[in-house]
Amino acid sequence: MGTNKTLSLSSILLIPVFLAIVSSGLPTISGKGFSIREATVRDLQLAFKHNKLTSRQLVEFYLEEIHRLNPVLHGVIEVNPDALAQADQADQERRTKAPRSLAGLHGIPIVLKDNIATKDKLNTTSGSFALLGSVVPRDAGVVARLRKAGAIILGKTSLSEWSYYRSTSPPYSWSARGDQGKNPYTLGNPCGSSSGSAISVAANMAALSLGSETDASILCPSSKNSVVGIKPTVGLTSRAGVVPISPRQDSIGPICRTVSDAVSVLEAIAGIDIHDNATIEASNYIPKGGYAQFLRIDGLRGKRLGIVRDFYNLLHLSPGSEIASKKTFLQHLNTLRQRGAILVDNLKFGNITELYFTDFGEHVALGAEFKLSLNAYLKELIVSPVRSLEDVIEFNKNNPVLEKIEYGQDLMLQAQATNGIGKAEKAALVNLERLTKNGFVKLMTKNKLDALVTPGDITARILAIGGFPGIIVPAGYSKDGPFGICFGGLKGSEPKLIEIAYGFEQATKIRKPPPF
Ligand SMILES: *[C@@H]1O[C@H](CO)[C@@H](O)[C@H](O)[C@H]1NC(C)=O
Ligand SMILES: *[C@@H]1O[C@H](CO)[C@@H](O)[C@H](O)[C@H]1NC(C)=O
Ligand SMILES: *[C@@H]1O[C@H](CO)[C@@H](O)[C@H](O)[C@H]1NC(C)=O
Repeated sequence: MGTNKTLSLSSILLIPVFLAIVSSGLPTISGKGFSIREATVRDLQLAFKHNKLTSRQLVEFYLEEIHRLNPVLHGVIEVNPDALAQADQADQERRTKAPRSLAGLHGIPIVLKDNIATKDKLNTTSGSFALLGSVVPRDAGVVARLRKAGAIILGKTSLSEWSYYRSTSPPYSWSARGDQGKNPYTLGNPCGSSSGSAISVAANMAALSLGSETDASILCPSSKNSVVGIKPTVGLTSRAGVVPISPRQDSIGPICRTVSDAVSVLEAIAGIDIHDNATIEASNYIPKGGYAQFLRIDGLRGKRLGIVRDFYNLLHLSPGSEIASKKTFLQHLNTLRQRGAILVDNLKFGNITELYFTDFGEHVALGAEFKLSLNAYLKELIVSPVRSLEDVIEFNKNNPVLEKIEYGQDLMLQAQATNGIGKAEKAALVNLERLTKNGFVKLMTKNKLDALVTPGDITARILAIGGFPGIIVPAGYSKDGPFGICFGGLKGSEPKLIEIAYGFEQATKIRKPPPF
């Protein structure tokens, strides 16, 4: 969950630390004239190919950056003690031209949100001490695919504890194990819940990252940390082995610095997993020849993009996104038009008031789904200090200092009070379907749209309740920090969204690394 909260005072209190970092200057770490900072997967692959870089140098660079920056940013919870060994193995494979060295992410380090299971020396805890020492049955489905693609698992990233499903009180990006994550641009709110993943790639502490989203948890931190996030169609990527909230809404996706990097990761992780049945049907959405073919410089040409002005007027609901000044967005709309997109403007979105000003049932559904799916996850662990949501609640009560019980656990208590998918939950689910049909589906089909274009992550809840994909791309900077622009589409529309997002990114090239 990642709906916005207001900035905390901590951003002000930490300014001296921030200045100290700025004035210490950036050590220029490079491998034989090649700059790792801001390098894309393609840059890294070329550098490998021309012997300008080894995976060991790459991992050493990131370990050093984590060492230097993480004490302030708290984007990373754990680094993999085997990362250097994996790098050496990748270098060896490249030297001997082993078949594996041709895999898409070979020798490239990636960090994973701490709710994504790895069967290695890393812990998988969703940021909570309650899961420290738990042993997972196997790698998460997406991790198995990343390893197959040759990626180096560099570490686990911080997050809003339990993906912000413990309590509505803590500041974003806080977890007991991960501490308070900081936005590398403002040292304020990085948004959540996949905050550490966004922080890590934004600040060049890793090449790539994975996050997960139930509602806004990829889109919001990507927007706030000036990186690209892809929230795939639910089921396109396996959720097996990921600490869940809702199988109906959860989606695992990349958070990276560029659209092409995010697409490289999506390409690696999308596909069938026998441990997540939703991947079977969703695999029909995967295009022949993969996703990279849609990185087209003229990707905007002929695309029908829907504009609902009401969403631009709702920005005040998402504190910090109002920064996403309307003026900037109006300029972007011009850019989209100039690059050949057809803007279908002044559209109305059905039931928008209900979606933004009433309790329309999402939380009723999520509470029961969280209890059911978390209990199933915990049951499957080989070893675990907790075996049920009830145990987790007890653990928090019994460890009030470690787990900062003053932050509460209201969401967990509400979920624990549910008893399966009952009458209230069924009614809520019917309402979510109705809102999806009357809202997004109607808008998209009636106007034959390829995407809905909106500022920041304002439409995250609409994409969430319908299981729809969205891609967010850096769109600008204001005094309150970075903000993104979001392209949302119907299920399986990733190819078109990639064309549109890449077309926009290449036309604007807005991302700037954080200023230290
Ligand atoms: C995992 O947690 C244990 C404590 O239970 C700790 O000793 C170990 O170092 C952690 N693993 C990593 C890779 O940090
Ligand atoms: C997937 O579906 C099959 C057939 O309906 C079922 O037997 C199996 O238990 C399901 N697997 C999971 C992981 O849900
Ligand atoms: C929701 O939208 C439908 C179709 O557009 C409309 O008939 C209905 O009155 C709306 N309901 C509310 C509560 O706004």
